[in-house]
Amino acid sequence: MPEAKDYSVTETLRNGRQVEIRALRPEDRAGLIAAVGRTGEQSLYRRFFAPKRGFTEQEIAFYTNVDQVNHVALVAQIEEGGRPTIVGGGRYIVLRPGRAEVAFAVDDDHQGLGIGAALMRHLASIARSAGLEELVAEVLPENGAMLKVFEKSEFEIRTAREPGVVHVTIRLS
Ligand SMILES: CC(C)(COP(=O)(O)OP(=O)(O)OC[C@H]1O[C@@H](n2cnc3c(N)ncnc32)[C@H](O)[C@@H]1OP(=O)(O)O)[C@@H](O)C(=O)NCCC(=O)NCCS
Repeated sequence: MPEAKDYSVTETLRNGRQVEIRALRPEDRAGLIAAVGRTGEQSLYRRFFAPKRGFTEQEIAFYTNVDQVNHVALVAQIEEGGRPTIVGGGRYIVLRPGRAEVAFAVDDDHQGLGIGAALMRHLASIARSAGLEELVAEVLPENGAMLKVFEKSEFEIRTAREPGVVHVTIRLS
């Protein structure tokens, strides 16, 4: 399996289109900002747990300059009008040895095509190869799509519900 920093695979989506799932690169900054611009308020709220209109330079640097070891980030890219376009991304950040937090976002027009599930599958496979034992996520209780992506994954998942948040633990081993 390629290292996270060189990761690239192509998959066929539910609508027959091809998507490349690949490592995020520093030069993706503009593509990532454009993808956030095409993502609706509700989706951004579900990703960041707060209304999100813009990002500071510091936040942009944090999300784009990743080491692909303790902060692993993948993007989903499709051809749109003949141009490669980032339409989603998934990342994990190691919290302590063996355990990392995951989060995903797909722009509104490309949700429901299987991109979230593909990002999850590849991120989990990178995490497993890196020796991680579990992935955790915090999900809003009304976020059925995210919960479904975790439930559909090949891994054993545990959920703990609290008012306002579902804590999800995915066992990789
Ligand atoms: C959550 C998210 C990443 C999933 O990505 P996606 O590409 O839409 O996911 P997929 O297409 O792989 O799968 C979504 C599944 O949820 C299902 N789904 C959609 N809305 C649902 C709902 N309200 N309740 C239950 N299931 C739902 C879809 O039918 C699909 O299941 P299927 O493959 O069995 O048909 C995407 O919807 C998103 O970006 N949401 C906003 C940001 C966010 O919530 N991030 C999560 C933070 S941890």
